[in-house]
Amino acid sequence: MLDLDQLRTDTPHCQQLIHLNNAGASLAPRVVLDAVNRHQMREVEMGGYEAADAALTEHEAVYHSVARLLNAKASEIALVDNATRAWDMLFYALPFKPGDVVLTSVSEYSGNYIPYLQLRQRCGITIEVLPNDEHGQVCLKALEQRLQRPGVALVSLPMVASNGGAVQPVQAIGALCRAGGVLFLLDACQAAGQIPLDVKAIGCHMLTATSRKYLRGPRGVGFLYVDLELCQRLEPPFLDLHAASLITAQQYEVRADARRFESWEHNMAATLGFGAAVDYALACGVDKLWARIQTLGNYLRRELAQVPGVHCHDQGGLLTGLVTFSHQRHSASEIRQYLAQRPTRINVSVAGPASTWLDMHQRGLTEMVRASVHAYNTEAELDALIQALHTL
Ligand SMILES: Cc1ncc(COP(=O)(O)O)c(C=O)c1O
Repeated sequence: MLDLDQLRTDTPHCQQLIHLNNAGASLAPRVVLDAVNRHQMREVEMGGYEAADAALTEHEAVYHSVARLLNAKASEIALVDNATRAWDMLFYALPFKPGDVVLTSVSEYSGNYIPYLQLRQRCGITIEVLPNDEHGQVCLKALEQRLQRPGVALVSLPMVASNGGAVQPVQAIGALCRAGGVLFLLDACQAAGQIPLDVKAIGCHMLTATSRKYLRGPRGVGFLYVDLELCQRLEPPFLDLHAASLITAQQYEVRADARRFESWEHNMAATLGFGAAVDYALACGVDKLWARIQTLGNYLRRELAQVPGVHCHDQGGLLTGLVTFSHQRHSASEIRQYLAQRPTRINVSVAGPASTWLDMHQRGLTEMVRASVHAYNTEAELDALIQALHTL
């Protein structure tokens, strides 16, 4: 059982505001702030490079923590600036040739879809969007049938869309990709820290995510997992002297592990804070966090259904902590502003077509309010949101 009081004691400022934008950037637990501050003070007292030397063991431990989170090897983990950069480093490293098909889902994040278009323009790949089934999840039958025909080089999609919706059946997708001999790149940006992840069980070859969302780490850190055997066949789109070394004036050698996707310069304090966040999630138990998040998400959906004029847009079998809704008379932006001005501020976000263009257009939606709950939120906080919606 999760100790809710402890979770809240661990979370500075959660009594002063109602933070329901955990899918944007969550409130960090105190251990994260401590790790960041400790290293920043070290930098003040010792100098940046000397502080990094002093934190070598702590830094190394971050890779092991992320590996534990994903059931991977530490050598299969790279730490970068954000989830998009993690994803880009992998995607642009793939050796596409003209006519290669990238299969994605309607729920794809626009930041990933734009690179598909760029490579279509640059090297003639083809983009195919898999249809959803009646639950709003990727249609497994359609995927299976498409994989029986040639041409597919990559299946790439988000496990949880940034505008809510169902958890994709990633294990079944992974099994189909493995059976078809096709690479599977999983965007777990909204899933990491929310849903237990096991790259072996999922069967994905690559996975990307961020620190600041459900893992509750600092901003400015993202990470990737890449299967070690695949990693060694991929030439990163950018190389520096950390990713590779000069052997002669004419020759360089790329390092063997996933850190070939990193750059030498990075924010060490944020990276150590991220490590603390992963350790905190592991100590809580991601399975327990997931159970609590589902309980809160479903509670909020049930309560929203009782508010006149409110329509909840979530669809799918297995729903997450991302709850999306709209109001008959008020735009999502108006609602967000109104909630932010309550005596106890309520943070929600607006989901528009910028992040999930395909899905929003397919469903004929322009914008929705997104209230994203985390395990440290309470039913009383959700009641306060509902109360505020009643008095709009
Ligand atoms: C599904 C999904 N993928 C990728 C990203 C990009 O993450 P980042 O902003 O860390 O690059 C987001 C951000 O909201 C997201 O929701």
